[in-house]
Amino acid sequence: MTTSFSESLRNATWADHQSAESEGYLTELMAGRLSEHEYGEMVAQHYFAYTALDGVSRELAGHPVAGRFVFPELYREPALERDLATVYGPRWRERITPSASTEALVARIRETAGWPGGYIAHHYTRYLGDLSGGQFIRMELQKIYGYARGGGVDFYFFDELGSLPRFKNEYRSRLDALELDENERQRVIGEVKRAYRLNTDVLAELFHTVRAAA
Ligand code: HEM
Repeated sequence: MTTSFSESLRNATWADHQSAESEGYLTELMAGRLSEHEYGEMVAQHYFAYTALDGVSRELAGHPVAGRFVFPELYREPALERDLATVYGPRWRERITPSASTEALVARIRETAGWPGGYIAHHYTRYLGDLSGGQFIRMELQKIYGYARGGGVDFYFFDELGSLPRFKNEYRSRLDALELDENERQRVIGEVKRAYRLNTDVLAELFHTVRAAA
Protein backbone atom coordinates (compact mmCIF):
# COMPACT_ATOMS: atom_id res chain seq x y z
CA MET A 1 0.00 0.00 0.00
CA THR A 2 1.41 3.39 -0.89
CA THR A 3 1.45 6.13 1.71
CA SER A 4 -0.43 9.31 0.82
CA PHE A 5 1.43 12.61 0.77
CA SER A 6 -0.52 13.92 3.77
CA GLU A 7 0.49 10.84 5.78
CA SER A 8 4.13 11.04 4.70
CA LEU A 9 4.18 14.71 5.61
CA ARG A 10 2.76 14.06 9.04
CA ASN A 11 5.10 11.11 9.68
CA ALA A 12 8.19 12.95 8.47
CA THR A 13 7.50 15.96 10.70
CA TRP A 14 5.92 14.46 13.82
CA ALA A 15 9.19 14.67 15.78
CA ASP A 16 9.28 18.40 14.94
CA HIS A 17 5.69 18.64 16.18
CA GLN A 18 6.66 17.03 19.47
CA SER A 19 9.44 19.61 19.95
CA ALA A 20 6.95 22.44 19.30
CA GLU A 21 4.34 20.93 21.59
CA SER A 22 6.76 20.47 24.48
CA GLU A 23 8.19 24.00 24.37
CA GLY A 24 8.44 25.39 27.91
CA TYR A 25 6.13 28.33 27.26
CA LEU A 26 3.28 26.01 26.24
CA THR A 27 3.93 23.73 29.23
CA GLU A 28 3.67 26.72 31.59
CA LEU A 29 0.63 28.08 29.77
CA MET A 30 -1.22 24.76 29.84
CA ALA A 31 -0.39 24.31 33.53
CA GLY A 32 -2.08 27.63 34.30
CA ARG A 33 1.15 29.18 35.53
CA LEU A 34 1.11 32.28 33.28
CA SER A 35 -0.70 35.52 33.94
CA GLU A 36 -3.28 36.71 31.45
CA HIS A 37 -0.84 39.32 30.12
CA GLU A 38 1.81 36.63 29.65
CA TYR A 39 -0.71 34.64 27.63
CA GLY A 40 -1.34 37.81 25.64
CA GLU A 41 2.32 37.84 24.59
CA MET A 42 1.69 34.74 22.48
CA VAL A 43 -1.52 36.19 21.06
CA ALA A 44 0.47 39.27 20.03
CA GLN A 45 3.10 37.15 18.24
CA HIS A 46 0.31 35.21 16.52
CA TYR A 47 -1.14 38.52 15.39
CA PHE A 48 2.00 39.43 13.45
CA ALA A 49 2.49 35.94 11.99
CA TYR A 50 -1.12 35.56 10.86
CA THR A 51 -1.27 39.05 9.44
CA ALA A 52 1.59 37.91 7.18
CA LEU A 53 0.12 34.47 6.44
CA ASP A 54 -3.34 35.78 5.68
CA GLY A 55 -1.82 38.56 3.57
CA VAL A 56 0.03 36.01 1.43
CA SER A 57 -3.17 33.95 1.21
CA ARG A 58 -5.01 36.95 -0.22
CA GLU A 59 -2.20 37.47 -2.73
CA LEU A 60 -2.31 33.83 -3.83
CA ALA A 61 -6.09 33.38 -3.85
CA GLY A 62 -6.19 33.21 -7.65
CA HIS A 63 -3.17 30.93 -8.01
CA PRO A 64 -4.08 27.57 -9.60
CA VAL A 65 -2.18 25.50 -7.02
CA ALA A 66 -1.76 27.64 -3.89
CA GLY A 67 -5.29 29.02 -4.30
CA ARG A 68 -6.73 25.60 -3.41
CA PHE A 69 -5.49 26.21 0.15
CA VAL A 70 -6.89 29.70 0.49
CA PHE A 71 -9.99 29.71 2.70
CA PRO A 72 -11.16 33.14 3.89
CA GLU A 73 -12.90 31.33 6.78
CA LEU A 74 -9.43 30.63 8.15
CA TYR A 75 -8.27 34.25 8.23
CA ARG A 76 -7.37 35.02 11.83
CA GLU A 77 -6.73 38.74 12.00
CA PRO A 78 -10.17 39.93 13.22
CA ALA A 79 -10.31 37.17 15.87
CA LEU A 80 -6.81 38.04 17.09
CA GLU A 81 -7.77 41.70 17.33
CA ARG A 82 -10.72 40.79 19.56
CA ASP A 83 -8.50 38.55 21.68
CA LEU A 84 -5.89 41.27 22.12
CA ALA A 85 -8.54 43.85 23.02
CA THR A 86 -9.89 41.43 25.63
CA VAL A 87 -6.48 40.74 27.17
CA TYR A 88 -4.92 44.20 26.98
CA GLY A 89 -7.86 46.59 26.51
CA PRO A 90 -8.65 49.03 23.69
CA ARG A 91 -5.09 50.38 23.47
CA TRP A 92 -3.58 46.96 22.78
CA ARG A 93 -1.86 48.09 19.61
CA GLU A 94 0.47 50.38 21.55
CA ARG A 95 1.89 47.58 23.65
CA ILE A 96 2.62 44.84 21.15
CA THR A 97 5.75 44.39 19.05
CA PRO A 98 7.01 41.44 17.03
CA SER A 99 9.86 39.53 18.65
CA ALA A 100 13.05 38.78 16.69
CA SER A 101 11.85 35.18 16.14
CA THR A 102 8.48 36.40 14.90
CA GLU A 103 10.22 38.73 12.49
CA ALA A 104 12.21 35.77 11.14
CA LEU A 105 9.02 33.71 10.76
CA VAL A 106 7.19 36.59 9.07
CA ALA A 107 10.10 37.16 6.66
CA ARG A 108 10.05 33.49 5.66
CA ILE A 109 6.26 33.44 5.23
CA ARG A 110 6.50 36.47 2.95
CA GLU A 111 9.25 34.81 0.91
CA THR A 112 7.02 31.80 0.25
CA ALA A 113 4.58 34.01 -1.66
CA GLY A 114 6.82 33.14 -4.63
CA TRP A 115 6.72 29.39 -4.04
CA PRO A 116 3.32 27.66 -3.74
CA GLY A 117 4.79 24.57 -2.02
CA GLY A 118 6.46 26.75 0.61
CA TYR A 119 3.29 28.71 1.25
CA ILE A 120 1.32 25.47 1.63
CA ALA A 121 3.96 24.21 4.11
CA HIS A 122 3.50 27.22 6.41
CA HIS A 123 -0.27 27.18 5.96
CA TYR A 124 -0.44 23.49 6.89
CA THR A 125 1.84 23.89 9.92
CA ARG A 126 -0.28 26.62 11.43
CA TYR A 127 -3.84 25.91 10.42
CA LEU A 128 -3.92 22.14 10.69
CA GLY A 129 -2.37 22.60 14.13
CA ASP A 130 -4.94 25.22 15.16
CA LEU A 131 -7.70 22.87 14.05
CA SER A 132 -6.16 19.92 15.93
CA GLY A 133 -4.17 20.48 19.12
CA GLY A 134 -5.34 24.11 19.04
CA GLN A 135 -8.82 22.97 20.01
CA PHE A 136 -7.43 21.28 23.11
CA ILE A 137 -5.39 24.39 23.89
CA ARG A 138 -8.53 26.55 23.63
CA MET A 139 -10.46 24.38 26.08
CA GLU A 140 -7.62 24.56 28.58
CA LEU A 141 -7.34 28.34 28.17
CA GLN A 142 -11.07 28.73 28.70
CA LYS A 143 -10.81 26.81 31.96
CA ILE A 144 -7.77 28.80 33.11
CA TYR A 145 -8.85 32.34 32.17
CA GLY A 146 -12.62 31.93 31.92
CA TYR A 147 -12.90 33.25 28.36
CA ALA A 148 -16.16 32.92 26.48
CA ARG A 149 -16.80 33.56 22.80
CA GLY A 150 -16.27 37.16 21.77
CA GLY A 151 -12.67 37.67 22.84
CA GLY A 152 -9.79 35.93 24.58
CA VAL A 153 -9.61 32.70 22.60
CA ASP A 154 -11.55 33.60 19.43
CA PHE A 155 -8.43 32.73 17.45
CA TYR A 156 -9.21 29.06 18.10
CA PHE A 157 -12.88 29.23 17.06
CA PHE A 158 -13.53 28.32 13.43
CA ASP A 159 -17.31 28.44 13.41
CA GLU A 160 -17.57 29.21 9.71
CA LEU A 161 -15.83 25.95 8.80
CA GLY A 162 -18.55 23.69 10.18
CA SER A 163 -17.26 20.25 11.17
CA LEU A 164 -13.53 20.46 11.84
CA PRO A 165 -12.83 16.73 11.21
CA ARG A 166 -14.58 17.04 7.85
CA PHE A 167 -12.61 20.13 6.94
CA LYS A 168 -9.32 18.47 7.94
CA ASN A 169 -10.16 15.48 5.74
CA GLU A 170 -10.87 17.79 2.83
CA TYR A 171 -7.60 19.63 3.51
CA ARG A 172 -5.65 16.37 3.53
CA SER A 173 -7.25 15.30 0.27
CA ARG A 174 -6.12 18.59 -1.25
CA LEU A 175 -2.58 17.86 -0.05
CA ASP A 176 -2.85 14.41 -1.62
CA ALA A 177 -4.09 15.87 -4.91
CA LEU A 178 -1.02 18.09 -5.31
CA GLU A 179 0.97 17.06 -8.34
CA LEU A 180 4.45 17.02 -6.86
CA ASP A 181 7.41 14.98 -7.98
CA GLU A 182 9.55 13.33 -5.31
CA ASN A 183 12.02 16.19 -5.24
CA GLU A 184 9.29 18.78 -4.65
CA ARG A 185 7.62 16.58 -2.01
CA GLN A 186 10.88 16.52 -0.11
CA ARG A 187 11.24 20.29 -0.46
CA VAL A 188 7.76 20.81 0.99
CA ILE A 189 8.51 18.42 3.87
CA GLY A 190 11.73 20.35 4.48
CA GLU A 191 9.79 23.61 4.60
CA VAL A 192 7.30 22.18 7.11
CA LYS A 193 10.25 21.24 9.30
CA ARG A 194 11.56 24.76 8.92
CA ALA A 195 8.12 26.17 9.73
CA TYR A 196 7.99 24.09 12.92
CA ARG A 197 11.45 25.33 13.87
CA LEU A 198 10.57 28.97 13.26
CA ASN A 199 7.34 28.61 15.24
CA THR A 200 9.16 26.79 18.05
CA ASP A 201 11.74 29.59 18.15
CA VAL A 202 8.90 32.06 18.74
CA LEU A 203 7.71 29.97 21.68
CA ALA A 204 11.25 29.64 23.04
CA GLU A 205 11.70 33.40 22.94
CA LEU A 206 8.37 33.84 24.73
CA PHE A 207 9.50 31.41 27.40
CA HIS A 208 12.69 33.37 27.86
CA THR A 209 10.68 36.60 28.24
CA VAL A 210 8.28 35.21 30.83
CA ARG A 211 11.07 33.54 32.79
CA ALA A 212 13.08 36.75 32.82
CA ALA A 213 10.05 38.56 34.25
CA ALA A 214 9.47 35.92 36.98
C1 HEM B 1 0.04 22.14 23.69
C2 HEM B 1 0.44 22.10 22.46
C3 HEM B 1 -0.04 21.13 21.40
C4 HEM B 1 -0.79 20.01 21.51
C5 HEM B 1 -1.37 19.38 22.78
C6 HEM B 1 -0.97 19.47 20.19
C7 HEM B 1 -1.66 18.32 19.90
C8 HEM B 1 -1.91 17.83 18.64
C9 HEM B 1 -2.67 16.63 18.35
C10 HEM B 1 -3.30 15.71 19.40
C11 HEM B 1 -2.71 16.50 17.02
C12 HEM B 1 -3.34 15.33 16.23
C13 HEM B 1 -4.79 15.62 15.96
C14 HEM B 1 -5.37 14.72 14.89
O1 HEM B 1 -4.81 13.69 14.54
O2 HEM B 1 -6.43 15.09 14.39
C15 HEM B 1 -2.00 17.62 16.45
C16 HEM B 1 -1.86 17.84 15.11
C17 HEM B 1 -1.12 18.87 14.57
N1 HEM B 1 -0.47 19.88 15.26
FE1 HEM B 1 -0.34 20.06 17.25
N2 HEM B 1 -0.33 20.27 19.28
C18 HEM B 1 0.26 21.30 19.97
C19 HEM B 1 1.01 22.33 19.46
C20 HEM B 1 1.25 22.52 18.11
C21 HEM B 1 2.05 23.60 17.57
C22 HEM B 1 2.75 24.69 18.39
C23 HEM B 1 2.03 23.44 16.20
C24 HEM B 1 2.68 24.25 15.12
C25 HEM B 1 3.62 25.13 15.29
C26 HEM B 1 1.21 22.27 15.90
C27 HEM B 1 0.93 21.79 14.64
C28 HEM B 1 0.17 20.68 14.36
C29 HEM B 1 -0.12 20.19 13.02
C30 HEM B 1 0.36 20.81 11.71
C31 HEM B 1 -0.93 19.07 13.16
C32 HEM B 1 -1.51 18.21 12.02
C33 HEM B 1 -0.64 17.00 11.76
C34 HEM B 1 -1.27 16.15 10.65
O3 HEM B 1 -2.22 15.45 10.97
O4 HEM B 1 -0.80 16.20 9.53
N3 HEM B 1 0.76 21.74 17.08
N4 HEM B 1 -1.53 18.42 17.46
